[in-house]
Amino acid sequence: MQASVKYRPSPSPSARQPAPAPLFSTAAAGCPSAFTTVSYAPETRRRRTFAIISHPDAGKTTLTEKLLLFSGAIQIAGAVKGRKASRHATSDWMEIEKQRGISVASSVMQMSYRDHVINLLDTPGHKDFSEDTYRVLTAVDSALMVIDAANGVEAQTRRLIEVCRQRDTPIITFVNKMDREVRDPLDIMDEVERELGMPCCPITWPVGQGKSFGGIINLRTQSMTVFAAGSEKRPQDFEVIALAETDKLRARFGRAFDDALESMELAVGASAEWDHEAFLAGKLTPVFFGSGVNNFGVMEVLDAVVDMSPSPGPRVAFAEVNRNREERTVRPEDESFSGVVFKVQANMDSNHRDRIAFVRVASGRYTPGMRMKVQRTGKELRPTSVVTFMSQRREAVDEAYAGDIIGFTIHGGVQLGDSITDGPSLQFTGLPFFAPEMFMTVVLKNPLRTKQLQQGLMQLGEEGAIQVFKPDVGGNMLLGAVGQLQFEVVQHRLKTEYDCDVRLEGCQYTGARWITADTPAELREFENAYPMRLAHDAADTLAYLCTSPYDVRLAQERFPKIHFHPLREHAGLSLGSAN
Ligand code: G4P
Repeated sequence: MQASVKYRPSPSPSARQPAPAPLFSTAAAGCPSAFTTVSYAPETRRRRTFAIISHPDAGKTTLTEKLLLFSGAIQIAGAVKGRKASRHATSDWMEIEKQRGISVASSVMQMSYRDHVINLLDTPGHKDFSEDTYRVLTAVDSALMVIDAANGVEAQTRRLIEVCRQRDTPIITFVNKMDREVRDPLDIMDEVERELGMPCCPITWPVGQGKSFGGIINLRTQSMTVFAAGSEKRPQDFEVIALAETDKLRARFGRAFDDALESMELAVGASAEWDHEAFLAGKLTPVFFGSGVNNFGVMEVLDAVVDMSPSPGPRVAFAEVNRNREERTVRPEDESFSGVVFKVQANMDSNHRDRIAFVRVASGRYTPGMRMKVQRTGKELRPTSVVTFMSQRREAVDEAYAGDIIGFTIHGGVQLGDSITDGPSLQFTGLPFFAPEMFMTVVLKNPLRTKQLQQGLMQLGEEGAIQVFKPDVGGNMLLGAVGQLQFEVVQHRLKTEYDCDVRLEGCQYTGARWITADTPAELREFENAYPMRLAHDAADTLAYLCTSPYDVRLAQERFPKIHFHPLREHAGLSLGSAN
């Protein structure tokens, strides 16, 4: 059974969560001083929108579930083992995820905690879905990095860190699985520093590990929270002993306690002091230790999300003024509503066979019945319903502010990267599509299903689940991917969601470049020269397909005025730098 704590604008004091003392002052948490004069500021200031990033199996699903549990968004969380056998995690939606036990799709959950509205975005842990992950990370204000203490920073986490670093996203680090035989915490800190390229600041410190795991020392409160195994434990169930009671702690934890004090001293001496501004600038990471499956050290992380992470900040957009592109800064507290579609997903729930565009609100307030426009097309947006995501359920939105994620049920007309506003004509940037490096030809087993196949490919292409190319001159549709698993997921989804059995066959292409030209005449000349190499993608953008990097170089030499783009930002906007 699940109950959810839906955000209501002014909860009665009794409905609020108890408010522990903040870890750190939130005065500078991404809140410009201009907030004082504007009405939406109190709402945007109490929003926290973050993503959890990790390598598969580090414990992201477990931690997500525990965060939902502690915030009251769900009532029960089975041990992960039980969950995997009998029910799937609240954040796992797709059939294929259950089969494979990996997070393929990313999901969104809203919860309310300590009078804050927390939006948690899950990211696919598998490397083949790095594009989807990239787009999710454009929609958050901070990230929570989960590390398996036995394995340290692993390959997939490294990739995600790179994305966060590019955007200077503040990162909180959680070192998980301390109840196992793991690596020395000093070693882990050192590795995190190296991999992140930024100093660490320990906030909690472990006493022992594995069988001798005694708990964590909280450096701020100068107390030790004693570990007790069990997935039913609540934060208040853990015993807390002041560090000043040294004799008691020594008698109880023996050598492990003295070793912990010693290594903690070394860690504190060698690491940076807490600097909130540096954290907000993505230049320092606070580090927490715990055991997600045992609910241990999790509350500290949830409090850190509230106390340390930034509320939504301003975003850059462009407006067309007299055919010129002018930069605009959109502030969360601005009166006009604006948002960006960072994810589109079809058939997310078999009970609702529809498509949902996930919109990260950037400014203003959404209210039901509001008139909105898709800026790319200038068309009015008329969603059949608008929802928020409460763990596995969707609920109608009463209102939403900057930082919130709302889902529009749509029937075409909206694409990834679209900017939606209630009036002002502006476009947000920064939602890239990368040129695929792997291609497959789609062969339909039953030709009578052609229409369904076309619909399926169009929708999956618009979702960004895969890139779909329709050759300009005949031939079967082509799928382009960054990783092999994307093909498998699409093949599976075509069968289960569109009843289309397809075979995927290898083809000669190894790359694509999106094409633009300075004049229509130049473009025509290029098209005439390479009719067999041209295709249009799901956003109807022209692409040149190549069989080797030399192809592009040769074509570029032959047509110096044609631009070959390795990444496409978003239809209606300029394309990335040409090569
Ligand atoms: P993921 O989403 O990052 O892929 O990881 P997930 O939460 O599914 O956790 C992966 C495995 O790690 C799970 O085991 C889970 O029970 C275990 N795990 C998570 N947190 C902890 C922890 O703090 N301590 C310990 N000891 N284990 C933890 P599983 O997939 O069910 O496999 P099994 O190990 O139970 O066989």
